[in-house]
Amino acid sequence: MRVLIIGGGGREHALAWRLKQEDSSLELLAAPGNPGIAELAECVPLRATDVEALLTLATDRRVDLTVVGPEAPLELGIVDRFRQAGLAIFGPTKAAAEIETSKAFAKQLMLEDAIPTALAEVHTDVVRARDAVRRFGMPVVIKASGLASGKGVIICNSLDDADRTVADILEGNRFGAAGAEVLIEEFMEGEELSVFAITDGESFVVLPGLQDHKRLLDGDRGPNTGGMGAYLPVAVPMLPARDHTDDAATQRAMAGVIIGQTLRAMSARGRPFTGLLYMGLMITSQGPRVVEFNCRFGDPETQALMPVLGMETRLLDLFLAVGRGEAIEGAVAASVSGACVSTVIAAANYPDTPRPADHISLPPPEEGIVVFHASTARDEAGRLTTNGGRVFAVSAIGESVEVAAQRSLAYARRVEFAGKQLRTDIGWREIDRQRKKASARAPRD
Ligand code: AMP
Ligand code: GLY
Repeated sequence: MRVLIIGGGGREHALAWRLKQEDSSLELLAAPGNPGIAELAECVPLRATDVEALLTLATDRRVDLTVVGPEAPLELGIVDRFRQAGLAIFGPTKAAAEIETSKAFAKQLMLEDAIPTALAEVHTDVVRARDAVRRFGMPVVIKASGLASGKGVIICNSLDDADRTVADILEGNRFGAAGAEVLIEEFMEGEELSVFAITDGESFVVLPGLQDHKRLLDGDRGPNTGGMGAYLPVAVPMLPARDHTDDAATQRAMAGVIIGQTLRAMSARGRPFTGLLYMGLMITSQGPRVVEFNCRFGDPETQALMPVLGMETRLLDLFLAVGRGEAIEGAVAASVSGACVSTVIAAANYPDTPRPADHISLPPPEEGIVVFHASTARDEAGRLTTNGGRVFAVSAIGESVEVAAQRSLAYARRVEFAGKQLRTDIGWREIDRQRKKASARAPRD
């Protein structure tokens, strides 16, 4: 079996690693891949967005299945193109990918079909957008509709700030074409949860929920990033007023209801969604509401999930079935064994203008730790260097989030390169929650 993975980040390294764990005889190609992926796969230097070249590669090398990592090729219609050519590919069509690539489309779908989410309006006109801001009140959330690398969401606490943001996006070209439309959205309060479902368009398998940490600095401060770390399991009560709704089965069931609604809504609009549906939830006091959908695996959530996802969930079989247009009905529910915490190590100056080409020294491999490469390269002498924003995700497993977090951090601290940045508190919400539970259980004298 020969599988092509498109992309070259930490998420794709984690997917490649997992597929090899499931089937060590698997022959893997990656385009473009990275030095970490190169230990598992043959890397072919093609851009993830060069759809025609990727199609030629898949055809020439008789690839049995292509798995798409990032959203950019999906937005370009790579799945439509491969399917036309009769090739199996895991991912949504261009029209279905709009659930991520157009926040305006996704919001309209949710509001029309009563999928729980924040109220919002879509505007292209500054005056109308500012009117909406006044109706919503502060704080208000302002979003560029198109793809903006996770940076197109601004939470404003004052009218001045909101007015300026609206003008920046619609007139100041702050996000380019992605900001031709803005969403003015109600602010939701609560804890976030990322839930993935693998789907053939109708049936689906819900994977265990995770949390990521989007801010650069400890304590969830500093600028937004693509994600500075992720972990699981997350025992957040799905209905905060009822503590007993914090178990994995309730989480899966409640997320499953929203996923089912969403898949039906997509099919009803002639855009059946196949592949990986990523649902970003806010667990509000009224229960879970959708913050956003993505049309691909999360990054860095995938790096935390792959090492602890129960082996009875055979991703390879699911990817193959969906990629070939077959049903996945009857697939086994996904389980998780233990905990995993993944700490991202980012380059100097991330997220603004990350500095490349700093030499890296990696500590020797350790039991229970998997180091996923996100943006690394090799110089002429073959030495490992940084090559972009997020450089590694250090995933550590343990019997609890607290133990896994300590291991992940201890290893990540020993990775050396100039200007490296990392957070030291990945998983803090869950660690706090478990400590509080333990102290509530402790006998009092
Ligand atoms: P998105 O790119 O839509 O995932 O948004 C990025 C982040 O902004 C989310 O992970 C949330 O932390 C925050 N966010 C987005 N929409 C809202 C909202 N309506 N209320 C509160 N926070 C939000
Ligand atoms: N971790 C957020 C994302 O993948 O969009």
